Amino acid sequence: MNHPLYQPIQKNILILISVLMVVSCGKQQPQSRMDKKVDSLMRLMTIEEKIGQLNLPSAGYFKTGEAASSDIGKKIEQGKVGGLFNIKGVANVREMQRIAVEKSRLKIPLLFGMDVIHGYETIFPIPLGLSCSWDMDLIRQTARMAATEASADGINWAYSPMVDIARDARWGRIAEGSGEDPYLGARIAEAMVRGYQGNDLSANNTVMACVKHYALYGAAEAGRDYNTTDMSHVRMYNEYFPPFQAAVNAGVGSVMTSFNEIDGVPATANKWLLSDVLRQQWSFGGLLVSDYTSVSEMVPHGIGDLPTVSARALDAGLDMDMVSEGFLTTLSNSLKEGKITEQQINEACKRVLQAKYKLGLLDDPYRYCQEERAKTEIFTDANRAFSRKVAAQSFVLLKNQNHLLPLKKQGTIALIGPLADAAENMTGTWSVAAHFSKSITVRKGLETATAGKAKIIYAKGSNLYEDAHLEEIATPFGKTLHRDKRSAAELRDEALRMARQADVVVAALGESAEMTGESSSRSDIGIPDTQKELLKALLQTGKPVVLLLFNGRPMTLKWEDENVPAILDVWFGGSETGDAIADVLFGEINPSGKLTTTFPQNVGQVPMYYAQKNTGRPLGDAKWFQKFKSNYLDVSNDPVYPFGYGLSYTDFSYGEVKLSKPEMTASDSITVSIEVTNLGQKEGTEVVQLYLHDVIGSITRPVKELKGFKKVILKAGETQTVHFTLKNKDLFFYKSDLSLGSEPGVFEIFVGGNSRDVKKAEFKLL
Ligand code: BGC
Repeated sequence: MNHPLYQPIQKNILILISVLMVVSCGKQQPQSRMDKKVDSLMRLMTIEEKIGQLNLPSAGYFKTGEAASSDIGKKIEQGKVGGLFNIKGVANVREMQRIAVEKSRLKIPLLFGMDVIHGYETIFPIPLGLSCSWDMDLIRQTARMAATEASADGINWAYSPMVDIARDARWGRIAEGSGEDPYLGARIAEAMVRGYQGNDLSANNTVMACVKHYALYGAAEAGRDYNTTDMSHVRMYNEYFPPFQAAVNAGVGSVMTSFNEIDGVPATANKWLLSDVLRQQWSFGGLLVSDYTSVSEMVPHGIGDLPTVSARALDAGLDMDMVSEGFLTTLSNSLKEGKITEQQINEACKRVLQAKYKLGLLDDPYRYCQEERAKTEIFTDANRAFSRKVAAQSFVLLKNQNHLLPLKKQGTIALIGPLADAAENMTGTWSVAAHFSKSITVRKGLETATAGKAKIIYAKGSNLYEDAHLEEIATPFGKTLHRDKRSAAELRDEALRMARQADVVVAALGESAEMTGESSSRSDIGIPDTQKELLKALLQTGKPVVLLLFNGRPMTLKWEDENVPAILDVWFGGSETGDAIADVLFGEINPSGKLTTTFPQNVGQVPMYYAQKNTGRPLGDAKWFQKFKSNYLDVSNDPVYPFGYGLSYTDFSYGEVKLSKPEMTASDSITVSIEVTNLGQKEGTEVVQLYLHDVIGSITRPVKELKGFKKVILKAGETQTVHFTLKNKDLFFYKSDLSLGSEPGVFEIFVGGNSRDVKKAEFKLL
């Protein structure tokens, strides 16, 4: 290509740069190839072109926010765009890249981003479901496959992983993350970054990951999306930051700021958060991008007009402005007025160009635009088969009275419910690249699995909501509203007729795909009334009922737990949901998923999570209300299902916790061992979990904290000894002065198959 950017750097320029470096930098290391390339490019750029690199408009193929960007082609030509997102299709990407590299003055290629959250076209379970697999390699592989598909279609930047700790089930975006626990969240963050980025970011099948939303977004007050957050710094460091820091340590290429405020300053302009913590304490050297219009949203937040908030964001350390165009339209003037410095613009521009370099775009702008790959590597049979396997690992068996499950492939099975034949809902929230209608429904999955053996009869039974308006708002993003015009009574009667003819009823109920996700907070987190009425009526037929629960959040299932004999939580399993459900329902696969969020009894208990503090007035072993203790008048402190919980078609028993020694020093380690036995007739997989309690600290410590887990496969009757090693660093926490370390004293260890039912031991740190 006849352009300085794509030519080897000329010898004389190299010499000049070396001389300049020796003169200006004294003993500094020689520049890397990347720095040389980026520097030489930046020397050619005007201030306007540098500011142009900081602009990230949406191409508008999917609408994920209020504002949209206009005149994109023209702006690319004028050098006013650094990257583009919300664009799909390799030909479309290539065309935009062509404008950038053929028509703009400096021919700098664009970044192409997308919300590749849980798969690209082959969709995996929603992240909350995926986390219930507790299988880090499986999770890494899903990100790897998503990266392969996305990069085959022109995308080089995925806005994932979303690692916000979420403990409030009302918050719709709890579906997009890995639940309530910082330790598990950190392990999943690392696995996903490794999956997306592989070992070489410049390979054409890897993409740059973007960990989000930095930070505390999941702690929105009252679970209302975008709402204020306010918390102590020790809590941030101990409970909300660990997954972000883990992603940074795993080499994540970019970080996205969050919408919410922290200490009264929105994250996007919070210098302490972006510069002090992220850049300095964690040494993050990658690209820092805003969320969708989170720069301009600082105007309604109330900290200034667009020029002010844009200048504050740049000053805080933000590099790229998504959609707002606050950087594009105001930074040049702010520079003239002395509100920001040229150095700050240079730093931000450098980081955008470095990201392009690392992705290999400065060597070959069309690296990710290979039409042949797009035809052969996306939504392949092999990928779909893998997705089916992953989906089954995400399901959590919540109840299985008298071993109702697995079902036999015989007789008549009545499949009832608004989610039973609902292809568009199977992929769940944030699956923008998916072809919704290609997903395998429960009906299809069950019919295929039982062909020639059992009879599947189907009725919708109810709409998702009785209120058409609510159903409509729970169906955005190009999904069709398949509302049945019949009355609730007519729908139910038809379903009951089916149920009465059947040997067993499978009721596919719960939330629609868009009842969780962005801007989908709920104040009632139960199964919508019309569906619950249907469920009650089905139970009254006296037929055995299996509840297949679709959900993107922990729901209130007290009544269901008391009344329905079998409950399988299937979240939103992705493209192959129906087949995966059949695999588990008929026992080809023994369920092994474990919850990564606590399921409360009622919405009044939230935020609810296992790693609580004891308080000065703990309820202790008392089950019910006691005056002047920390409890409620009208509900116990127990969840319906605790963190870590999930059943299997077999049963496991745990021996006693054995420690290699009763005491350890800071330079030492201790081995924790426990025997786990499969008591049943079937092979099964158990997630053995280890929790710790630091009994006395200089600050109060949670009653339990997850510190390790192992997924073991046990044959019928088999016993295995599971070992964990604890080192001093596993006892670390951030203290009042935010220093990290352990404190001598007694530690309780708990091991079990969930956070409630555990065996205990203790040791001393000397
Ligand atoms: C969301 C982000 C997403 C971005 C781009 C925002 O509304 O908060 O998670 O990456 O849109 O689509």
